[in-house]
Amino acid sequence: MHDVQDRTWSVDRFERPATIDEALALLDRYGSDARIVAGATDLLLELQRHIRTVDMLIDLSAIDDLDGVDMSAGTVTLGPLTTHRQVVESDIVRQFGLPLAQASLEVGSAQLRNRATVVGNLVTASPANDTISALLALDAQVELASIDGDRTVSLSDFYTGVRQTVMASNELVTAVRFPAMSSGTSGMFAKVGLRSAQAISVVHAAVVIERLGGVISNARIALGSVAPTVVLADAARSLEGSALTAETIERCASLASGEVTPITDGRATAAYRSHLVRVVLSRMLHTLAAGDESSQWPTRVITLADGGTHSSIPMAAGPNDPIRVLINGTGVTAPGATHESLLDWIRSNARSRSGELLTGTKEGCAEGECGACTVHMDGQSVLACLVLAGSADGHEITTIEGLDSPDDVRLQDSFIACGAVQCGFCTPGFVMAASSLRTEMGELTADEIRDGLSGNICRCTGYESIVEALVSTPTGGTS
Ligand SMILES: Cc1cc2nc3c(=O)[nH]c(=O)nc-3n(C[C@H](O)[C@H](O)[C@H](O)COP(=O)(O)OP(=O)(O)OC[C@H]3O[C@@H](n4cnc5c(N)ncnc54)[C@H](O)[C@@H]3O)c2cc1C
Ligand code: FES
Ligand code: FES
Repeated sequence: MHDVQDRTWSVDRFERPATIDEALALLDRYGSDARIVAGATDLLLELQRHIRTVDMLIDLSAIDDLDGVDMSAGTVTLGPLTTHRQVVESDIVRQFGLPLAQASLEVGSAQLRNRATVVGNLVTASPANDTISALLALDAQVELASIDGDRTVSLSDFYTGVRQTVMASNELVTAVRFPAMSSGTSGMFAKVGLRSAQAISVVHAAVVIERLGGVISNARIALGSVAPTVVLADAARSLEGSALTAETIERCASLASGEVTPITDGRATAAYRSHLVRVVLSRMLHTLAAGDESSQWPTRVITLADGGTHSSIPMAAGPNDPIRVLINGTGVTAPGATHESLLDWIRSNARSRSGELLTGTKEGCAEGECGACTVHMDGQSVLACLVLAGSADGHEITTIEGLDSPDDVRLQDSFIACGAVQCGFCTPGFVMAASSLRTEMGELTADEIRDGLSGNICRCTGYESIVEALVSTPTGGTS
């Protein structure tokens, strides 16, 4: 096996505390040897790549009421397990924090957004992370807790370098808050990536401006992927006291382009990134001047989630005990919380009624890029290669082998009839995502099909026939 293919990892303990206090006590005891688990879409890859040695994982998912969005007294609050899906579904964020809604919609793919959290995005602290810019422009604050007490840190003071924050090893993030955008305030987020899904930003930007009678009284511009941390551009000051005219826009965009210190990497050269800052910012400011900042928001947001309620009952057992997952309606119990992804756990433990291993869920890339491992977790399409097996404890999983409703059988027949299967390796992932898409949306346009399946890659380039398979399958009905 080549070094890059060796993704084995293990920790000594996997804990799912029932309260924040229990989580804080564990963090205090194990400090930098422990890591908090939210969606694990960053963390699992770091474990597999041995970026940092960790003895203990502390999964917050068994603690009640840590997700969701609230607004009171003009402040919008996100819980620490609020996913990007919950953000894009939130009317509050859409109305009072549009740049964040737009940034979350740009993260990964629908499968990734069903697991990945905003707080995980903030704490990973990559300068390419989309919601950092949105929340910086929105002047957000981060609530931190430890057994020593709580503190509030402005997001603009949170970062100290590439992937570094002011958080102490015994602290965790309990909330993110930002002032709701009022009627005189507008803002937006925009991103340039190399693909329409799963694309790390080449450059992204978020702008929030306050206007009084057309004159800007306050402006915040955050730029990502152009410096060691996401930065607030001084160029924003050049807008204050002026209206948004072609002249003030071009001046601000040029100043911002001159301010950034990007690097050249596999995605773009430094010079191209600087150029992009000017172009992207100029277009965003023109869009804000025209009041068109919401125009790109989709008529129907695709989440690949069925919207139903699913009860999850984590086992109240010891930290390293076997986990129990309901797979295609059958309980499966096996160890794995300390060393496996859900994908590997399913493929090596779940069996059909006739005793065969359920290996229909495929590993295409094992790093969230291809969608081949898509399964349904509590009715949401997720990437099994990015879910920790321990985090699936107590949840319901459907794999391709369990997709046997008449509607899903019709869908699979259409894949065959339309020639949407060539080598077939990507097919289970496409069918799982397509099934979610049809359940969620009913009748679909071709654009919605392409959008909904953008997190799935087919190496045999069968996209047109895959779209055709969905277009030609009637929705609904049971026969
Ligand atoms: C294929 C792929 C595509 C991606 N595309 C994008 C993209 O387009 N844009 C983008 O910005 N990101 C992207 N990401 C990165 C990642 O998905 C996001 O950063 C995501 O929001 C992380 O959230 P999570 O819940 O999975 O975090 P986790 O992996 O669970 O945690 C990330 C870090 O935060 C820490 N942490 C989590 N919660 C807390 C807490 N409450 N207190 C203290 N520490 C905490 C963890 O210990 C860990 O260090 C992508 C990743 C993959 C694999
Ligand atoms: S996305 Fe999971 S295997 Fe490629
Ligand atoms: S059919 Fe071969 S990868 Fe898609």
